[in-house]
Amino acid sequence: MERIVIRGGTPLRGEVAASGAKNAALPIMAASLLAEGPCRLANVPGLRDVRTMTALLESLGVRVVRGPGENLVLDASEATGYRAAYDLVRTMRASVLVLGPLLARFGEAQVSLPGGCAIGARPINLHLKGLDKLGAEITIEEGYVCARSRRLQGARIYLDLPSVTGTMNLMMAASLARGSSLIENAACEPEVAELGTVLGAMGARIEGAGTDHIQIEGVERLGPVDHSVMPDRIETGTFLVAGAVTRGDVTVRGCRPKHLEAVIEKLIEAGADLRIDDDAVRILGPDKLRAADVKTGGYPAFATDMQAQFMASMAIAEGTSVIAETIFENRFMHVAELRRMGADIRVQGNSAVVRGVKGLSGAPVMATDLRASASLILGGLAAEGQTTVSRIYHIDRGYEQIENKLSALGARIWREKDPGSL
Ligand code: UD1
Repeated sequence: MERIVIRGGTPLRGEVAASGAKNAALPIMAASLLAEGPCRLANVPGLRDVRTMTALLESLGVRVVRGPGENLVLDASEATGYRAAYDLVRTMRASVLVLGPLLARFGEAQVSLPGGCAIGARPINLHLKGLDKLGAEITIEEGYVCARSRRLQGARIYLDLPSVTGTMNLMMAASLARGSSLIENAACEPEVAELGTVLGAMGARIEGAGTDHIQIEGVERLGPVDHSVMPDRIETGTFLVAGAVTRGDVTVRGCRPKHLEAVIEKLIEAGADLRIDDDAVRILGPDKLRAADVKTGGYPAFATDMQAQFMASMAIAEGTSVIAETIFENRFMHVAELRRMGADIRVQGNSAVVRGVKGLSGAPVMATDLRASASLILGGLAAEGQTTVSRIYHIDRGYEQIENKLSALGARIWREKDPGSL
């Protein structure tokens, strides 16, 4: 196993390019199962989750060719498999995104139930309830969701919670259903809107993707698409916090600041100076950050995927902030590790009370999930002394070469073999 070592205390300066968004790339890759012909994707980030989705699609008979740079060609013309095996699904919950496309295209899908994960139980009942409404017959057999249907039938689906991947699965399934569907209380995330655009370019008739009402007229078949994946708003937000906690001057290029309004507002409230263009954001970190309260929520509210990173900045802010997590029940695993670096954080129910301290001190810490790892790296960048973050495989799921991007901004950070691992 590898670990990341950080010698903190250096202000970050310079420009960094945003990578393609993991949470847009994964559903678009899954959508290629719907197309009769090769889909060409550009700006696909080089991430472990993308490699897992590639392996999953290949196991279903999709031909995947990694082109030069960030390009990927996916051709499901000869795909025949419909079983997503436990070995792949257990390493990446987003594997469930193949359920809707497989069922719609082949009339049958068997997808291993993903099980719990570090940040909560994360059930998929809403995906299944929606597919049931579309006429699928669903059973659970030996740990697998088995779904069958001749041709799905359009339906009105109300989601009890605006699940992001649930909305995506249902959009993909309804695109090939007979008749019209309406998804109400849909997730409004920009990645859902982007999937709507891609499905539209494949020939689907979708309106309202990116709002809480999505209207879909089913079509007989979908064709291939050429698409460049949108920039990753969570990676961008993470670099902005890196600028804030190091009193740095960081510009993220090739991003979409309008997808980050809640994060940008909070960083301004915390005393950072932000300069915003159409496709770039520059942050100048203040000498001392100020406390700002945060409550996570569905888009456009503050993203749960930015909660852990923002907490690292509040750990060294002046004053006390309350960070409320409303999406996942157990997403405070980073708290105990930040405490090891000297942070003063108490968890009360679904809130963390963060009393800002003068400074953090480097310590050995352990990553527990993807965004927690980013939070610990940010803590390490801000801290005096050396921090080692072990179990770093979590970060490679969602950040492309994070240590290289940060060292190009002047951070003293590197990756090495973890002598403590077996
Ligand atoms: C997606 C994102 C993830 C992000 C999350 C919330 C991808 C690949 N992943 O995950 O990075 O943190 O949105 O923005 O896009 N729920 C149910 N039943 C369901 C589905 C969800 O109860 O069938 C609950 C979940 O437990 C959670 C909430 O709904 O409390 C939201 O989860 P959801 O939006 O589904 O998250 P994901 O789509 O898994």
